[in-house]
Order: sequence, then C-alpha cells, then structure tokens
Amino acid sequence: MAGTPVTVIGLGLMGRALATALMNAGHPTTVWNRTPGKAQALVEAGASQAPTVEAAVAAAPLVIVCVRDYDAVRGLLAPAEPALAGRVLVNLTSGASDEARAMAEWAAERGAEYLDGAIMMTPPGIGAPETVILYGGPPALYEAHEPALRVLGGGTTLISSDVGLPSLYDVALLGIMWSTFNGFMHGAALLGTEKIPATDFLPMATGWLRGVATFLTAYAQQIDDGAFAAEDATLETQVPPVRHLIHESRIRGVDATLAEYTEALLTEAIGRGHALDSYARVIDHFRP
Ligand SMILES: NC(=O)c1ccc[n+]([C@@H]2O[C@H](COP(=O)([O-])OP(=O)(O)OC[C@H]3O[C@@H](n4cnc5c(N)ncnc54)[C@H](OP(=O)(O)O)[C@@H]3O)[C@@H](O)[C@H]2O)c1
Repeated sequence: MAGTPVTVIGLGLMGRALATALMNAGHPTTVWNRTPGKAQALVEAGASQAPTVEAAVAAAPLVIVCVRDYDAVRGLLAPAEPALAGRVLVNLTSGASDEARAMAEWAAERGAEYLDGAIMMTPPGIGAPETVILYGGPPALYEAHEPALRVLGGGTTLISSDVGLPSLYDVALLGIMWSTFNGFMHGAALLGTEKIPATDFLPMATGWLRGVATFLTAYAQQIDDGAFAAEDATLETQVPPVRHLIHESRIRGVDATLAEYTEALLTEAIGRGHALDSYARVIDHFRP
C-alpha cells in the first residue's frame, strides 16, 4: 500500500464504494461511521476502523466525508474539531451552494483546507474511468490531491475555485435527469396502453435523446447570445404537437400534467410576442 493515507467518514452505500476504490488503488484507508457495524466488510478487506471520529480525522492528511447532508457533516465532525487543523477536508456529501460555502468557512475557522465535490454517479460506478466528480476549491489544493481523488472517478474535474459551484452544477444536472425520467415514464405509459413493452420503447427513446442533445447545442448558444431565431421550429409550430400529446394522454387515461405544463410555457412565451422564436426563448420563464 503505497498511496497517500486517506480517511473516509460515512459508510453508507456511497461511502463504502469510495473506501473500496481507495483501498483497491493502494491507499491506506481509515474508516469511521456513526453505525460502526457498516465498517465490517471494509475492515475484512484491509481498512482500519477508527474508534472515534477524532481518531479517524487524525489518521490521514486527506479526510473524505460522505453522509446524508451538511448538517450531519457538521454534527459528526464536532467532536473531531481539534484534529481538523492542518487536514484537507473533502466533502462529497450532496448539498446546495450556500451550504458548501458555509462549510468551507467552517472548515477554515478550524484550520482545515477544504474541497467540495459533487458525485455524478451511483455507488457501483465509483472508480470507473467515465465517472464524473465535480470539485470546487483552491486549484493548488485540488492539484495536490488530484491523484487520490481521480481514483474515485476518471472524470474527476475541478470546475471552479468557488466551492459552491459543484453543488449548483449537481442540482442543475439532476433537474435534467428527473425531467428526462418523467418524459420517459410518460411515453412508456402511453405506449403501455397498447401493451408495448417499455423495453421496446427504450432504443427509440435513447436514440431520440441523442438528437435532443444536438438541439440543446443550438439553444445554449442562443441563450448566451440572447438571440432566439428559430432555425429548427418556432414556438407556434410546437403548440399543436403538444396538444396532441395532451389529447392522446387524456383519451388513454394517462396523466397529462407534464404536457400541460409544456403547453403553458409555450403559450406564455407566445403571449409575450415570441411566437416565431425557438424553444430557447422559454428560458425567460425560468430566469429570476
Ligand atoms: N447513492 C447515490 O447514488 C449517490 C449519488 C451521488 C451522491 N450521493 C450522495 O452521497 C451522500 C451519501 O449517500 P449514500 O447513498 O451513501 O446514503 P446512505 O446509504 O443512506 O448513507 C447515509 C450515510 O450518512 C450517515 N448519516 C446520516 N445521518 C447522519 C447523522 N446525523 N450523523 C452522522 N452520520 C449520518 C449514515 O450513517 P449511519 O450508517 O449511521 O446511518 C450513512 O453513513 C448523500 O449526500 C447523497 O446525496 C449519493
């Protein structure tokens, strides 16, 4: 075991995956969890289980925390405050940008350096070359620990010196994920009324998503430029198909709320005089 010693605090599904990847890469790994029994398999695989959270923090220069939320991070680290000075705290717990910024201040007040990260993957993907983990914090600090952090995901990236931005990207990306999930559920429910299996729908849906991604390329540029010329389809053109989706849903007893929301977005933008603009004009609705 030749790598930097690392401590992993929090041994839920994600924390156990993080510790396992670090051990597999040769990092001497100390672990701690509120419920100690969750460390057993890791200890059998070669991890050291710290008797207290303070001992866990003291055991390694690099301390990774991944628990339910930021309140839990602060609460569990309270007894370990004396040991935090001089450590690098890497918080991979999901949260919001304001929580991450407050956590960085909290760590600085206790003499710890701080990186905040957002894991864009589920536990089975930890350690895979394509796994994306977004970091925010001082670039020199990130670079110093990048080799150990890269063990957790090949797509590890410092996106900003601002510790709040990984959380902001995280929620923005999750929003896309849930909208996509809901669109798929709606489509699968519609086809299901004709006994078409979701697995038959799947290849068309995933192929369509690749096409949708190319539309976004144009829309992103339009949003940044503030120019919404419809090069593909106008807002006005999209109203009848959305109404077909609403009609088709209603006659089949499928919930039409998602489509009704889209219709409302279109009619709002058209009502403001943007009938001939592209769908990117809908950004106005979402902006503060
Ligand atoms: N699972 C995923 O796919 C995924 C993906 C990306 C990001 N994340 C993020 O990773 C973090 C952990 O997720 P997970 O999947 O590992 O969750 P999990 O399996 O439910 O584990 C939760 C962990 O938090 C600890 N915890 C909860 N409340 C605590 C408290 N008040 N004090 C101390 N420890 C506390 C638990 O300790 P006990 O064992 O003692 O209960 C456990 O170690 C979350 O922020 C989650 O959003 C998860």
